[in-house]
Amino acid sequence: MTFQVPLPPTPVLETERLILRPLEARDVPAVQRIFPQWEVVRWLGPAIPWPYPEDGAATNMAQCLEKRARGEQFYWAITLKDGDDELRGRIDLWPLPQDRRDMRGFWLDPLLHGQGLMTEAAEAVTAYAFDVLEWPFLYLTNAVENRASARVKEKQGAVEVGREPFSYVAGQGEKQVWLLTREAWLARQKPNL
Ligand SMILES: CC(C)(COP(=O)(O)OP(=O)(O)OC[C@H]1O[C@@H](n2cnc3c(N)ncnc32)[C@H](O)[C@@H]1OP(=O)(O)O)[C@@H](O)C(=O)NCCC(=O)NCCS
Repeated sequence: MTFQVPLPPTPVLETERLILRPLEARDVPAVQRIFPQWEVVRWLGPAIPWPYPEDGAATNMAQCLEKRARGEQFYWAITLKDGDDELRGRIDLWPLPQDRRDMRGFWLDPLLHGQGLMTEAAEAVTAYAFDVLEWPFLYLTNAVENRASARVKEKQGAVEVGREPFSYVAGQGEKQVWLLTREAWLARQKPNL
């Protein structure tokens, strides 16, 4: 198993409707405007302060940029291709940590939910992980109740491999752990080969 660190610089990724570009300090106002909504945060982890402070996005941005500078994590701003380069959501990717089976995170402006956009972003990031970085697998997680997030994983061909207790912003619960192997994902991309 190989996860080469430090990670390379975050590349720009393009999909049919999206441009995923590296997160930047100028995205703080958009994050502070969009992120602190109950339907965005409720199934996220307990590290997120709630109620969200006025400097929440700025504090988090500083931590993200430091982590990225150390080559530990990729952070993409999700922007609309026919839009104005404004951040509408975020998708993050990181190598397998020692202590938990979890390698990707995402959230999107609720105004854009249900259009298949996060599936599109997740596919682009997954292609980068498997085609370019040649990672062998992705472990993915979500709150059991978070059906939209689970559905993105199902659509990508991930397989549920376990459930674990977890705390959310919304309280105690269980998280689903999913595994998407490079082999399974590549087979789904090229079913005729
Ligand atoms: C999870 C999230 C990123 C999904 O974004 P999205 O762009 O709406 O996702 P997509 O449209 O690509 O796919 C969502 C799928 O979930 C389905 N879905 C949505 N809500 C659902 C529900 N309550 N029950 C069952 N399925 C649901 C949609 O129908 C769609 O599936 P389909 O294509 O088969 O119809 C978005 O809901 C979000 O930002 N949530 C808040 C943050 C979050 O929870 N992040 C994940 C943490 S693990």
